[in-house]
Amino acid sequence: MSIAHGIRRLGVLGAGQMGTGIALVSALRAKVPVLLHDRSSEQVTKGLSLVEKLLAKDVSKGRITSEEAKEARDRISVVGSEVGIKGLRDADMVIEAVSESLPLKQSIFASFAAELKPEAILATNTSSISITKIAASAIPHGLNATSEEGKKSASRVVGLHFFNPVPVMKLVELISALQTSQETLDRARNFAVACGKEVTTSKDVPGFVSNALLMPFINEAIMCLEKGTATREDIDTTLRLGMNHPMGPLQLADFIGLDTCLAIQQTLYEGTRDSKYRPSILLERMVDAQWYGRKNGKGFYEYTN
Ligand code: 3HC
Repeated sequence: MSIAHGIRRLGVLGAGQMGTGIALVSALRAKVPVLLHDRSSEQVTKGLSLVEKLLAKDVSKGRITSEEAKEARDRISVVGSEVGIKGLRDADMVIEAVSESLPLKQSIFASFAAELKPEAILATNTSSISITKIAASAIPHGLNATSEEGKKSASRVVGLHFFNPVPVMKLVELISALQTSQETLDRARNFAVACGKEVTTSKDVPGFVSNALLMPFINEAIMCLEKGTATREDIDTTLRLGMNHPMGPLQLADFIGLDTCLAIQQTLYEGTRDSKYRPSILLERMVDAQWYGRKNGKGFYEYTN
């Protein structure tokens, strides 16, 4: 018999493009109250205005009624930056969606273990970082990783990897750490299904299935540009029209964020020591220049809004 997800209240940490999308599908599709928290109040304001815009578009396209849109919006409340992570303590599950940095995620999961309900599921939307390493940090201070309480605390951690744009992309990748319990996995899977997603599972290897395949592809496209094999437009058009990809690889890199692509590629390269994952120098230089893609207006292309 499958276990119900049992999530009566969800916490989302990080109100960037991923966290905002996760808050929206959770409120609209899974119909759960969401506590949205980010250390930047400006980011939360931006995120909420995107949620409102997307709900209004769904209403205008006749996909949902204006009552359903209002109910979904009302399910999302903000935990202010001054309150911090302890404002998520009523959540039965939290999903962390901050930038791809292991030290940042380790400090967040240590705070989750200290501040949240001991039975709350602790999910990470990481694109590539070891879920096992993150789970090892979710042990309350003073407890040993091999003690019964330590193992129990880490067993609540799971990878729940959404795709951008979250309201549109149908997939969630589910990743088990060495420490994850079967109950955590079942409940996390059922929650993703309640959000309207199809779920695939991957072992906890660098980049999981999705980014272990996608990132070398994007990196090869950047190296083609670097070598002068073709123009940016011809590289993207070849993949769009020749292979029916919705976006070319350089457009997709800009869409994901060049800083995020580089962070994922570094995790893949460091985690496997396999040269096929080595990031291209052009990508490194573009990130050095703080050209992060669509999110700040310049990547392989220029964006005006
Ligand atoms: N947020 C929410 N919805 C968005 C959106 C966004 N950022 N961008 C586009 N959409 C919606 C549009 O509003 C539109 O919705 P509608 O059908 O209700 O009108 C729909 O998507 C289609 O958009 P458009 O007609 O404007 O444009 P396209 O047909 O070109 O589609 C796209 C846009 C869906 C983004 C499409 O180009 C696509 O699928 N691109 C590939 C995206 C992809 O591969 N994502 C995965 C990235 S990898 C990842 O996330 C993993 C991470 O670990 C790196």
